[in-house]
Amino acid sequence: MDQEIIRKIRENTDIVEFIGKYIPLVKKGKNYFGLCPFHNDNNPSLSVSREKQIYKCFVCGEAGNVFNFLMKFENISFLEAVKIIGNEIGISVFLDTPKKEDKNKAFYDIYDLANKFYQNNLLASEGLEARKYLEKRSLDLKVIKEFQIGLSLNKRDSLTKMLQKKGYDLDILNNSGLSSGDNDTYINRIIFPLTNINGIVNGFSGRIYHGEKINKYLNSKETPIFKKGENLFNYNRAKEAVRKDKFVILMEGFMAVIRAYTIDVKNCLATMGTSLTSDQINLIKRLTNVVYLCFDGDEAGINATLNNGKLLSDANFSVKVMPLSDNLDPDDFILKYGREKFYSLISNAISYEDFKIRNLKKGIDFNNSSELSNYINLVLKEISLINDEIEREIMLKNLAKETNVWYNTLEKKLNELLSKPKVVLNTSSLSLKTKPKKNKYEKAMQAILYYMLNYKETITIVENSHVYFPIETYRILVREISYFYEKYGYINMADFKAYIEEKKELNEVLNEIMSLEFEAPTENVILGYLMVIKDYNVALEIKRLENLIMNEVDPIEQAKISNQIRKLRIGSENND
Ligand code: CTP
Ligand code: MN
Repeated sequence: MDQEIIRKIRENTDIVEFIGKYIPLVKKGKNYFGLCPFHNDNNPSLSVSREKQIYKCFVCGEAGNVFNFLMKFENISFLEAVKIIGNEIGISVFLDTPKKEDKNKAFYDIYDLANKFYQNNLLASEGLEARKYLEKRSLDLKVIKEFQIGLSLNKRDSLTKMLQKKGYDLDILNNSGLSSGDNDTYINRIIFPLTNINGIVNGFSGRIYHGEKINKYLNSKETPIFKKGENLFNYNRAKEAVRKDKFVILMEGFMAVIRAYTIDVKNCLATMGTSLTSDQINLIKRLTNVVYLCFDGDEAGINATLNNGKLLSDANFSVKVMPLSDNLDPDDFILKYGREKFYSLISNAISYEDFKIRNLKKGIDFNNSSELSNYINLVLKEISLINDEIEREIMLKNLAKETNVWYNTLEKKLNELLSKPKVVLNTSSLSLKTKPKKNKYEKAMQAILYYMLNYKETITIVENSHVYFPIETYRILVREISYFYEKYGYINMADFKAYIEEKKELNEVLNEIMSLEFEAPTENVILGYLMVIKDYNVALEIKRLENLIMNEVDPIEQAKISNQIRKLRIGSENND
């Protein structure tokens, strides 16, 4: 694509404003800081520079320009990011049709065709009974359309036949999970499409709607386009609402999410009955740091709340709970009590700690002193895990009040617990790659590249020095920077990064260089670094010659080589 257009789009998009739409940024010094959305961040390590128009994370090393941010954030390609940002500022970008066919395209196409087929079935005469079922559940046509609800027919092979007619063979249909043998997988079920994080249909969940009681839901099997643990129901639809509301409501079932949508609560996601995976936690992290758990009111729901609440707390989310009574699920609750009651359930959500303590209290006989002291110890243990001192004090006061035990006694006990060293497992830093240390030569090469990108005078100095960069990636970067500067007459990191986007092998080093921060160099500083690189070449040559000597049998040849080495050593000493 035309570099000029890319540059124009980038120049007209301020990176601070742009990233600020996705994550809150706070100004500190000349840069802006926020929680890095690309790892489990607990204190702001993403730095955004208005001056350089780049962002970088001190912890996970992610760095780049506006395009890279959007690519990573939305999991899209460079060109898609250019197109989206271009559209936002009124520059239309026409993408060429992708050169290489997406290897998953056939699967997506099959799911798309099936989705349309199922939707038509529901609205056709065969769909009458299913429509009645949905109506009885108060799901009207508007919701059916919005969630693209459909119906698989009560026939053995209607979908398989249709797709075969479109040219798909049984092999791929079986691999897609929609057929088994020449039978349809879904027979006579109400079909709820599942989508990936970009809203593209990649699976189905089919619900029985009359008669039989077994296998209430039938879900797509894992395929190249559908990995259950990498999706959350409603993610794409809820994204904007979650960012706007600044919290997400996490539910167990997708019916609950659909029901909440009908009363304009649009920031809901569903786990679909399983425990959160780390991929799903990271997906939520991209949207918000605050999760409200609204799981079913039964025993299983309570356990799921405790379990997922812990996973989320450990990942540094602020977790609240909306407890439901009488074994209701959010769907039942909304139908039974209505919109306003659900809204107040949201505004009265309790903290995860309170929920845990409430749960400990269940069935305890407060008149039985051993049960009571057991309860107190468990609660104190929970309180000791809370970081916030004020929160701890409030909870301790409540505990004193409810158990009639003297506050000071409880406080003393709590302090004992607090003084024990806690094992703090920092999961965020555990998962990060530990970068190997750079030697001084590599550091010098990185410094030179940083200066070339930020202080254009450096480019000429480097070119005139004719210093050979002994590592290929660096050598290529030097050449590319010179080329960029010559062609466009200016240089900066944000545009150079966009220019180099296609060359994946350069990206890692370039990201490292973008994370550096140096003052404006004097010419002597630059020459100093170039000298270090020159020394590196000498050091490499000496090493090569030393190897030669070891393998050389002829003493005269050996003497010659060692003379060469001596000369090189003297030469490099003179350079110092
Ligand atoms: N689930 C499933 N298979 C089942 C039962 C449940 O995959 N046999 C998943 C579904 O994704 C469902 C979630 O677990 O959304 C919650 O299950 P459940 O509470 O039983 O379903 P409801 O949301 O209450 O659905 P309905 O009201 O239609 O019964
Ligand atoms: Mn239900």
